[in-house]
Amino acid sequence: MNIEKLAYIETFGCQMNERDSEIMGQMLGNLHYSPTTDMKQADVIVINTCSIRDKAEQKVYSLLGRLKKLKKKKPSLIISVAGCVAQQEGKRLQDRMEHVDIVIGPQQIYRLPELVSKAAQKGKLQMAVELSAGFVIPRYSPPSPAGISYKSEKVASSPAFKKFVTIMQGCNNFCTYCVVPYTRGRETSRVAEDIIAEISNLAEQGVREVTLLGQNVNSYGKISDGSLQHISFPELLKRVSTIDGIKRIRFTTSHPKDLSAELIECFATIEKLCPHFHLPVQSGSNRILKKMNRKYTIEKYLDRVASLRKVRPDISLTTDIIVGFPGETDEDFQATLQLLDRVRYHGAFSFKYSDRPQTKAIAFDDKVEEQVKSERLRILQERQNDICLQRNREYEGSVQLVMVEGESKNAAGQWSGRTMSNIIVNFDSPALSPGREVHVKITEGLLHSLRGVMI
Ligand code: 5AD
Ligand code: SF4
Repeated sequence: MNIEKLAYIETFGCQMNERDSEIMGQMLGNLHYSPTTDMKQADVIVINTCSIRDKAEQKVYSLLGRLKKLKKKKPSLIISVAGCVAQQEGKRLQDRMEHVDIVIGPQQIYRLPELVSKAAQKGKLQMAVELSAGFVIPRYSPPSPAGISYKSEKVASSPAFKKFVTIMQGCNNFCTYCVVPYTRGRETSRVAEDIIAEISNLAEQGVREVTLLGQNVNSYGKISDGSLQHISFPELLKRVSTIDGIKRIRFTTSHPKDLSAELIECFATIEKLCPHFHLPVQSGSNRILKKMNRKYTIEKYLDRVASLRKVRPDISLTTDIIVGFPGETDEDFQATLQLLDRVRYHGAFSFKYSDRPQTKAIAFDDKVEEQVKSERLRILQERQNDICLQRNREYEGSVQLVMVEGESKNAAGQWSGRTMSNIIVNFDSPALSPGREVHVKITEGLLHSLRGVMI
């Protein structure tokens, strides 16, 4: 009798992690594990972790703590910790959580099948946390359409018609608050031919939208001395846009210092390139930006925003902001609020600064009190919410090309999709297939979404 083996994957953190989880799921599929959304049923559990902020890391430890009971009940269960916490903690992880069987860093995910087999045979800790400066992202062939998919809110998967494609990983920028250079290592870019082959394959399987992923996609192709190892990012975008079947191209994340005139021009010339730009600013104060080692001033940042809006007036801009960075005064914080008013972002992710291991800022001695950070975050989010609502109201009366994602969670008979500018739209319609593009007249702009009618 063939007893089905089951794998459960839970993902924390960024889209890079989501894509890595998808790859790990596909590799476990090749080992004949089927996906499950119930971790109690699983024979293998993979927790793909994030350590970007203190809170993200605490969530990981709390889940791992809960897994102890499961392992007790089922000693053959293999618990793997992947991702940035695995990289950061290494062997220390098992010292804290002795029920962990596999610790696997972001550069090593391709070794998961081998480690799962070894853990099953030998029953002792398997570790793969090497981080090499010369790392080459392996060529990875996507699965066939019938391949494994992990579908639940908690389990990694992106809808079948839109996919993430990793084009580079790692980071050379060393912002003083950021753990990423220590968990994901130095920047390394995939060769364009692999990327194009992967996207062409996805397009043949019915994928209509791709998001090109990397910690800093603007420096795609460059090596540490700034010279070009592969083609440039704008060149890559042009090549991706020639792939038949792909209708929408997005990318994330970008560093403002690397936003070139050539890339800005792509928004005018590449029709499939969606008019949405996530451009993390982090702070509105030049003094704080300097302490963060961001290598741009607010004046330069605003200049690039103006250039983007000149070539694509309908572009939506989103950002990341940290409040309470060490030494941030009320005046610095006011400068960030002013920046929100000047740029009027369509959305902003905002966070309280937290100390991260190995970073420079951990040693800064002018930390901001927790209470002050919380208060600043509250004020900032309130201000940004007002702006988000105003921005969404600006869509009222317009007709938007919406790519259907699926049935709306809000109400029966409603469908949900996204504008080219990445805003969620809910609208009444008979059944529609995900990935289809329809025209929707926007009737109402809400805080986090738009409402409309299909025309
Ligand atoms: N504290 C708070 N926020 C942080 N981020 C990165 N590191 C930290 C930290 N130590 C935020 C930044 C980044 C986003 C992904 O997370 O805003 O852009
Ligand atoms: Fe989190 Fe950064 Fe690692 Fe992504 S790369 S999982 S955001 S720490």
